Amino acid sequence: MRTLIKNGHLIDPGNKKNGEFDLLINKGKIEAVEPRGKINETSDIEIIDANGAIVSPGFCDMHVHFREPGHEYKETIETGSQSAAAGGFTTVAVMPNTEPVNDNRSITELIISQAKETAIVNVLPIGAITKGLKGETLSDMGELKAAGCIGYSDDGRPVSDSELMRRALEYSKMFDLPCIQHSEVLELTRGGSMNEGIVSTELGLKGMPTEAEDIMVHRDISLLPKTGGRLHVAHISSGGAVDLVRQAKAKGLPVTCEVAPHHFTLTHEACRGYDTNAKMSPPLRAEPDIEMIKEGMRDGTIDFIATDHAPHDLVDKQVEFSKACFGIVGLETALPLTLKMVDEKIISLEKAIDMLTFQPNRIFRLDKGTLGIGKVADITIFDEKTKYSIDPSKFKSRSKNSPYKGWKVRGKILRTIVNGKTVFKNN
Ligand code: DOR
Repeated sequence: MRTLIKNGHLIDPGNKKNGEFDLLINKGKIEAVEPRGKINETSDIEIIDANGAIVSPGFCDMHVHFREPGHEYKETIETGSQSAAAGGFTTVAVMPNTEPVNDNRSITELIISQAKETAIVNVLPIGAITKGLKGETLSDMGELKAAGCIGYSDDGRPVSDSELMRRALEYSKMFDLPCIQHSEVLELTRGGSMNEGIVSTELGLKGMPTEAEDIMVHRDISLLPKTGGRLHVAHISSGGAVDLVRQAKAKGLPVTCEVAPHHFTLTHEACRGYDTNAKMSPPLRAEPDIEMIKEGMRDGTIDFIATDHAPHDLVDKQVEFSKACFGIVGLETALPLTLKMVDEKIISLEKAIDMLTFQPNRIFRLDKGTLGIGKVADITIFDEKTKYSIDPSKFKSRSKNSPYKGWKVRGKILRTIVNGKTVFKNN
């Protein structure tokens, strides 16, 4: 069965295509992309009318937390993948802070086989840098790659030991996979639960200063010239860190970074009222940092958008602020929040799509993220205009911990296609 997506506005940043094109899918692959009306419609072709909608490569999120194995009450690979599909994501990379930790072949294989059985989008495992995320001994990075991991990270925690990080970069170079750092100097954030600043002082909460992020990014960049390896800074949130990445890139060092939508749409002011859905790590920052994050998006210092989808149950969030778990769900709000940056003229619509599709795939060297002929048909169709209000109770995710309840936004996913098959459809 062939499928024709017609009448849409196709935006494929990787191929520099932006216009009125129809797209033909055959056996899960993209067979043709032609100007509107040019592809012959035979009776055996299924038609998807994308009139008024944007047709883009499937979104890719290189930073999510599905809680399987270990904390399935928050999210499973199945429910996480449904949330991803509802958010327009066709590929997600899952962080290793599960229980047990994904620090060895058998856990990687378990995740891959669960994904094969239950997931409706592509699920790619990230292996731990250190055994048990303890920051003491390196995991077997070669084994993790052989089992199917596409990068290494201790996310949720930094690799604090500089010698260990140096060796992680050296080894990861041998396996040609990036090290994804959760950049935080723990001595500076110990006991903290939000950004250090005027709001934390007024709320009487212990703060986490931006220097904690800056210093770690600086250290890791300093390790690069001699080690080689590729450093990817996860969820960048401080303006200082953006500056450091900008300078390192100017020197030609192999460093990249991602930003989560909450770090460009919210400030630490959201913590007032002790809303635990505004608690994440790194924390929501002050306005000057948000401005510097936006500048980093504008000038390309920040490579792509990743949600840091971190599902937590009510029992983990309906507690005192200082005791609540860090993190929010993000897959089902990523598109509308990213479009806010288009509204603010920080980035164009094409750049927004680029940061959700081509860039993450390019940096992780995955053969996805474009609508090129012969590529796997992972496609997202969305309506960029219709306004609606965010309702977390409707999320497909098993967890609803989102600070965006009631936000008026635009950008609705209409259809998500993986391997040529529709896995999500908005009715
Ligand atoms: O807010 C966060 N939540 N940041 C992290 O780095 C980890 C994540 C989680 O696993 O809940």
